[in-house]
Amino acid sequence: MNSTNLDLAHITHEVIAISKSIGQRMKEQTHIHEGNAEIKTENNLVTFVDKESERRFVEFLTALVPAAGFVAEEGTGTPNPGGLNWVIDPLDGTTNFVHKVPVWCTSVALCHDLTPIVGVIFDPSSDECFSAFAGGGAFLNEKKIAVSQIDVLQQSLLATGFPYDDFGRENAYISLFRELMKQSRGMRRLGSAALDMAWTACGRFEAFYEYGLNPWDVAAGTIITREAGGKVTEFNLGDNPVFGVDLTCSNGHIHDALSSVIQRHF
Ligand code: IPD
Ligand code: CA
Ligand code: CA
Repeated sequence: MNSTNLDLAHITHEVIAISKSIGQRMKEQTHIHEGNAEIKTENNLVTFVDKESERRFVEFLTALVPAAGFVAEEGTGTPNPGGLNWVIDPLDGTTNFVHKVPVWCTSVALCHDLTPIVGVIFDPSSDECFSAFAGGGAFLNEKKIAVSQIDVLQQSLLATGFPYDDFGRENAYISLFRELMKQSRGMRRLGSAALDMAWTACGRFEAFYEYGLNPWDVAAGTIITREAGGKVTEFNLGDNPVFGVDLTCSNGHIHDALSSVIQRHF
């Protein structure tokens, strides 16, 4: 099966419903404390909530599109190289979740080869569901969303993520951060890359950038931002941000200005 045989509107509708159901259950499990979390790698936590939610997503999505494989953070399911894949982060913002900071979400995308064609990000704390499918526009709950119109870096609110285990490019990162601190209206670090992208798509941030992310952090945010009129690339403007090593996501208007600052440091 290829992506042209799929009813993307129907699939998106179903992914919204399952994301809300799983997300609500996760919200009821926020009594979990750090003692229940396991350390995967340095500063990289996982809880039974991540694992249980991923299992529920995979079970549901297997029935929804039987031809698709899985690229899921906790390793459930088998990938389908070059074809259709569900790219899933069952809980983006696990550190926030464990520390009871209400900034975390589910993030699910359907990709055809390297390109996301459906994306749903659900934030149970604010009951905000961001969604998009290729050619269908982007939505926050039932309302169509669009990126901001600000076209000057100095007037832009920017988001980023701090590296927590990959410190190989630490100096470049800090010098970039120092420059952008002065060249923007402000910098934010939410702790959920998927929400950073969703908030760019709906115009709260002008842009988000980070390196060392994984496909499940950014696949849904990429289609949602693109369908909201924004741009998502690698730092060097390459066209494989989902499976690449670094990513710039913006309203499009400041993309070149931000990318040239980033490229001076990376
Ligand atoms: C993390 C969050 C965080 C980002 C990290 C991600 P997780 O995902 O998106 O904002 O800085 O790079 O790994 O581990 O909470 O799913
Ligand atoms: Ca993540
Ligand atoms: Ca995660």
